[in-house]
Amino acid sequence: MGAFQDRDVLTIADFSRGDIEKVLKVADEVEVGGKRRGELPLEGRILATVFFEPSTRTRLSFESAMKRLGGDVVSFGGLEGTSVAKGETLSDTIRMVEAYADAIVLRHPQEGAARLAAEFSSKPVINGGDGAGQHPTQTLLDLYTIWDELGAIDGKTIALVGDLKYGRTVHSLALALCHFDVDLYFIAPPTLQLPREIQEQIKARGRDYKTAERPEDLIKDVDVLYATRIQKERFPDAAEYAKVEGSYRVDLEMLREAKKGLIVMHPLPRLGEIAPEVDRTPHAKYFTQAHNGVRVRMALLSLIFGVVS
Ligand code: CP
Repeated sequence: MGAFQDRDVLTIADFSRGDIEKVLKVADEVEVGGKRRGELPLEGRILATVFFEPSTRTRLSFESAMKRLGGDVVSFGGLEGTSVAKGETLSDTIRMVEAYADAIVLRHPQEGAARLAAEFSSKPVINGGDGAGQHPTQTLLDLYTIWDELGAIDGKTIALVGDLKYGRTVHSLALALCHFDVDLYFIAPPTLQLPREIQEQIKARGRDYKTAERPEDLIKDVDVLYATRIQKERFPDAAEYAKVEGSYRVDLEMLREAKKGLIVMHPLPRLGEIAPEVDRTPHAKYFTQAHNGVRVRMALLSLIFGVVS
């Protein structure tokens, strides 16, 4: 039995560097299309995608990954049409779903929801994003994209920009990058800086980082500019959101100073953080990054279901 078989994926903090490299290697070898009947390793397996918050990429790429491997999917996105609308608890919902599927991907607005679900499920639970907590599978595809585009993660200068307070993708990515020899910058208005507890976890892992307020001041040194949306839905107060709305924008003017090989990433969806004209530059890798979600999630599902080890 491989180290990944039947494993929950709740936080990237549970992944060693070896675990991350294993997923990246399997992802690199995955055949995304063109399988024939008889070459479908997950035939007969069912994945449940249980999404209590909106999603385009995470939900659809998991469903696509499962189907490309020959498996099937049961799902709900939104509460209407389910007994959650009648007040059913998360724990009872998970007790039901585990009987209908062989693994569960859960997205939920509450931090810690995936961990709670895992306590009630005998089947593997994959965290598809828990509130302002973690988004571990996004991090795996982010790391795959950096590695695939730049040939390595070690030795790079990586700047995470935007809403570092509420952005779960950057919480997971910052912790994962502690396994690599990178120069890390956290760029945000002071009210949106990375939460203190994550900064402390980074220091506890013996890693250093620098903070800044404006990407313009660092752009010429950076290999990876990872932009994030300001997470309006997580602000307790609309007035606080108004103070930071539109606080930065990656545009052609900013990129004039950038290294030739700089890659711009974003977990998407974007609002105004990246100007559309950037899409036409060789720096733009955010759509490639999202497309890599299928490959990386195929790798992860293959490992969890034990069809590769
Ligand atoms: N990156 C990401 O989690 O996108 P979705 O919200 O569309 O799943």
